[in-house]
Amino acid sequence: MQHQRVLVLDFGGQYNQLIARRVRDLKVYCDLKPCDMTVEDIREYAPIGIIFTGGPNSVYGEDAPHVSAEIFTLGIPVLGICYGAQLIPYLLGGKVEHAETSEYGKREFSFVKDSPISEGIPNTSICWMSHTDRVTALPQGFEVLASTETCPFTAFGNVEKKIYGVQFHPEVVHSQYGNKLLENFLYAVCGAKGDWTMANFVSEQVALLKEKIGNKKVLCAMSGGVDSAVAATLIHKAVGSQLTCVFVDHGLLRKYEAEEVMEVFRDKLGMNLIKADAGERFLSKLEGVSEPEAKRKIIGSEFIKVFEEEAKKIGAVDFLVQGTIYPDVIESGKGKSAVIKSHHNVGGLPSVVDFQEIVEPLRDLFKDEVRRVGTELGLPENVVQRQPFPGPGLAIRIMGEVTREKLETLRDADYIFRDEIAKADLNREIWQYFAVITNSKTVGVQGDFRTYENVIALRAVTSVDAMTADWARIPFDVLETISGRITNEVKHANRIVYDITSKPPATIEWE
Ligand code: XMP
Repeated sequence: MQHQRVLVLDFGGQYNQLIARRVRDLKVYCDLKPCDMTVEDIREYAPIGIIFTGGPNSVYGEDAPHVSAEIFTLGIPVLGICYGAQLIPYLLGGKVEHAETSEYGKREFSFVKDSPISEGIPNTSICWMSHTDRVTALPQGFEVLASTETCPFTAFGNVEKKIYGVQFHPEVVHSQYGNKLLENFLYAVCGAKGDWTMANFVSEQVALLKEKIGNKKVLCAMSGGVDSAVAATLIHKAVGSQLTCVFVDHGLLRKYEAEEVMEVFRDKLGMNLIKADAGERFLSKLEGVSEPEAKRKIIGSEFIKVFEEEAKKIGAVDFLVQGTIYPDVIESGKGKSAVIKSHHNVGGLPSVVDFQEIVEPLRDLFKDEVRRVGTELGLPENVVQRQPFPGPGLAIRIMGEVTREKLETLRDADYIFRDEIAKADLNREIWQYFAVITNSKTVGVQGDFRTYENVIALRAVTSVDAMTADWARIPFDVLETISGRITNEVKHANRIVYDITSKPPATIEWE
């Protein structure tokens, strides 16, 4: 079945992915495509509406990205946002000029004329602006729909032709009724039906996978992370025991994690799941190695060797599953290069597995959609909401050499940290939170005795994409409980410090 689709044309703005996510949250499927897509390709794509994103350029600039004005003759509704809004008058005979002062931040705006995009929105509300250029004259057939005190063309449109422009950013949360405006554009202007739901996605994918896979064999590398877990579960639902999953336990996972994976996927879901217990092997390879990159390389190559050995036992398969998700495959409007995931867990696998074709059932989904599919498939909350975890595991959270004793101390400390964050109900707002065992020992006093033990660091960050991050403002009383519990309950730890560095200049992980 073909969904209704909206096309989001990317002019390089920083919120381009956010726009696409908002549209999908409103139950309308959309794709983010480079702005140089040809009119012919757009016609063939057959969207119910087109959204132009913002962008860093000036529409009249020399290298500014444009679209052909022919787009406006296709009879497809258009919504331009910020740069995308300015492009409309620029291409259709209006005027855009440089303004003396930039407008940045929250602004009060009022509708001056009712139109389908203003339905259900109070006459005056707050929007979020970020622009220097401004529209100074509209093309024929267009009228002003909303203004602020300083920006007379805050929203404008040609209602009959279904072409609209908004100078502000409806996709960011600071625009009070931004989501409602997008909803109005999709439903009242484009005639969306809201057919993009995760329940639909699951039933359609299961049918598609059944057809594609037939009675053939599928192999999946299961890491315990959300993407591979959801991909495997979806395929299992479609073809059951034709799927074999291999889970390499490198002995560097968090406390109880390996047991949880086996319990959920093998015992509860009945998946054909093979666990390769390779902990000892990894630890002996890591003996005496303390340089971070050296540790990563050893783990990466050993992982592939272990997987290869397991794959050989299974023999040739027809399909290899990859947990690639949408942000990994989007072509950016500026760079235009498709970035394919090079996660060490799966990156090198295609070369060591005897298979015919790769199957990527989550290619169209954003991370939050992957989580919702997981929930739809009945996966438990702790699997679906799992925070990102690096392929090399705890080895890059143990500074210096990895030893059994340090691993045990770190696992116990990390477990308490996670437990208390969950109890404080902070787990959804913090992107990643984990303990690190530093290679410093300090003097302490525990039970009247002098101790000389490890310093444990706590790292917790907020982020949207891990490219940048800020340290999480965890309440002091929660930190106090965590510190008290770790020093009381965990062996070989007598001091706890909290990492208050953002990224940049630090990275999220310590190594
Ligand atoms: P950094 O430490 O570079 O991490 O700020 C950014 C994000 O990537 C994760 N990370 C990894 N993920 N294999 C992975 O699959 C790795 O080798 C790896 N190293 C870092 C990290 O946890 C954070 O989410």
